[in-house]
Amino acid sequence: SLLRMLAKLFILAALVACVSAFAPARFGSRMGGAVRMAEEPWFPNSVTSNTVSMGTLEQTFNTATNTETLQNFLEADPYYDMSNMPLNTFKAKEPHIGKIVSVKRIVGAQATGETCDIVIDHGGKMPYWEGQSYGVIPPGINPKNGKPNVNRLYSIASTRYGDDMKGTTTTLCVRRATYWCPELKAEDPAKKGVCSNYLCDAKPGDEVTLTGPAGKVMLMPEDKPETDLIMVATGTGIAPYRSFLRRLFVEKTPAGENFKGLAWLFLGVANTDALLYDADWQKIAKEFPDNFKVDYALSREQQNKKGGKMYIQDKVEEYAEEIFERMDKGAHMYFCGLKGMMPGILEMMEGVAKSKGKEWKDVLKEWKHAGQWHVEVY
Ligand code: FAD
Ligand code: A2P
Repeated sequence: SLLRMLAKLFILAALVACVSAFAPARFGSRMGGAVRMAEEPWFPNSVTSNTVSMGTLEQTFNTATNTETLQNFLEADPYYDMSNMPLNTFKAKEPHIGKIVSVKRIVGAQATGETCDIVIDHGGKMPYWEGQSYGVIPPGINPKNGKPNVNRLYSIASTRYGDDMKGTTTTLCVRRATYWCPELKAEDPAKKGVCSNYLCDAKPGDEVTLTGPAGKVMLMPEDKPETDLIMVATGTGIAPYRSFLRRLFVEKTPAGENFKGLAWLFLGVANTDALLYDADWQKIAKEFPDNFKVDYALSREQQNKKGGKMYIQDKVEEYAEEIFERMDKGAHMYFCGLKGMMPGILEMMEGVAKSKGKEWKDVLKEWKHAGQWHVEVY
């Protein structure tokens, strides 16, 4: 009877083997994924399971923001005290391992290039303030030197509470870097950007190696809530302003409750399809017409007054008088996005200063000295 039982077991095993051989490949890869997930995490501080899921993200956020109570569990005391701001908590040698919650393409079909909104779960272990950046270390080896890839910085696009309002996630706004080969007259995939493509291709549940939070340049002057904020962005340069504007107008944080200034957003992108988070800005503009303004420069849809491309500096120039006036009264001006916009911005501002009989060098020195001039371009 033992022999018969062994024979039965053998037939059963053969049957199972047959069935799995014909199972669809999807099943096989899912099994592979499950095995990989069960392995010991790579670093001790790894988040081993997501603390939020995309399915409940919006609902959690709505519940949190629709309450009458202040959302202030991640505030300093007083809320504008910067002495304990998190800074470089995780370094490349001891990074934090977060998990991807979601990756969403946020531009339309006619946009030039692809930009994604990426939510990362840090499990509440990697707090940051609005205006800071995270570093991301992409997996793999740099073929140019045979060493592991190094980190790239990404401005944080969520507030310290994250898009779920629980203080456990971080949102990045990432543009996929591609390389247009003039000889091939096509994109050369061998030369595409390592980290931005890794992030835009990531899947929920993937681990992501993080450093930071970094940066003190793009902070808001929250100790002076009457200060006007003039925010200039090209493309993904919108990221820090998304975190500012959510803090000021969407969440019921002390910074938002006290804000009395004007927040003025200038965004430059190629065309309407390339606009970033437009619905959010339109909603804020409707609800807070006295405290928020937004202006767009659509380089491939609009023309400047000389008949050329409408770049962000051309749009800002249209309001130069008012901007200078506000700056003279203590406004803060921020620039984030393409490095290439700064020469145009500076040239435009110099021209305006001259027309007002002012020496631009002195004006800029004064603004910088007073901490009113913030630049983070890449
Ligand atoms: P890399 O692999 O570093 O390549 C860089 C570029 O070189 C790419 O365009 C690539 O196509 C090209 N390239 C590669 N190989 C070749 C070759 N052989 N010949 C010619 N060209 C080649 N980016 C964002 O998208 N969002 C942000 O919010 C953001 N915030 C930032 C904040 C700060 C403070 C800084 C400094 C940068 C920020 N960046 C941001 C830029 C980001 O850090 C990266 O530089 C960007 O994503 C490109 O990195 P990558 O790894 O994809 O490209
Ligand atoms: P364009 O691409 O029409 O030249 P990107 O999509 O590459 O992130 O760029 C965002 C916006 O910044 C686009 O409208 C782009 O215009 C514009 N831009 C490119 N170069 C400059 C520059 N030197 N100064 C200002 N804006 C620029």
